[in-house]
Amino acid sequence: MYWWDSMWFSEERDNFMHIASAKWTNLNRIHTIQTASWLVWPATHSEEDQRYLTYMCYVSVFPTRLYPLPMGEERVIQRLPQIAPWRNEWGRPGDMAFIAIDTITKKRLGAIWCRLFPEASDFVPGFCSSNIPNLGIAVDTYARHRGIGGSLLRSLKQAAYQQGYTALSLGVTAKNPARFLYERHGFKTQNVPAYPDPITMLVDLGAKADKSYKNSIC
Ligand SMILES: CC(C)(COP(=O)(O)OP(=O)(O)OC[C@H]1O[C@@H](n2cnc3c(N)ncnc32)[C@H](O)[C@@H]1OP(=O)(O)O)[C@@H](O)C(=O)NCCC(=O)NCCS
Repeated sequence: MYWWDSMWFSEERDNFMHIASAKWTNLNRIHTIQTASWLVWPATHSEEDQRYLTYMCYVSVFPTRLYPLPMGEERVIQRLPQIAPWRNEWGRPGDMAFIAIDTITKKRLGAIWCRLFPEASDFVPGFCSSNIPNLGIAVDTYARHRGIGGSLLRSLKQAAYQQGYTALSLGVTAKNPARFLYERHGFKTQNVPAYPDPITMLVDLGAKADKSYKNSIC
């Protein structure tokens, strides 16, 4: 077992593409224990990317459930009432998704996505209003705590801003430590409902377009 006492982190950005790498050294400051580099890329409409998004949506909605799931289950997953609103008819205006890919193994490591929901979608955790995209995020278990989730959040925030959205929202349960990650990335709690209802968080992206989200009630 290693105890990390230092971590070096770097990131280069080019619009939608992020390249980040991290190196950990052990207590003696001698060995490089692990290096990781990944690329955040817009998800395509390929079957593989879409299947991965469905699995990651499941992990995001049920973070404490058994994972990984057996392959071939995506049709079942997609019909679950918590998943269907996110995945049905993917490709609607406002749908955006990014996938982090290991630059060496080319494996998918995590994903982030957002979607606009119509008014009266209060049943979707994190829903604020029909012009604020609501996001979901998940990183594969073995790839967590390397900064991938942060890279994905930065990519989506940048893309959403460039698309003219002025805010992003999300729903998270009070006991999910992902809250701290969101807070570090500028998300602010909008409501604190009674546990275990999800908390709604919102990040202000600035005022590139007039979406008048500030008048919406979260
Ligand atoms: C939330 C999630 C996407 C973060 O991805 P990540 O690649 O680990 O994110 P980063 O490495 O950029 O940041 C990690 C930070 O997130 C927070 N965090 C998220 N989940 C955590 C957990 N289970 N335990 C401890 N910290 C956690 C911590 O602040 C952590 O900081 P640290 O590494 O310094 O302790 C990932 O943990 C995940 O997929 N969780 C399961 C699905 C889920 O809960 N999705 C969100 C639903 S609202």
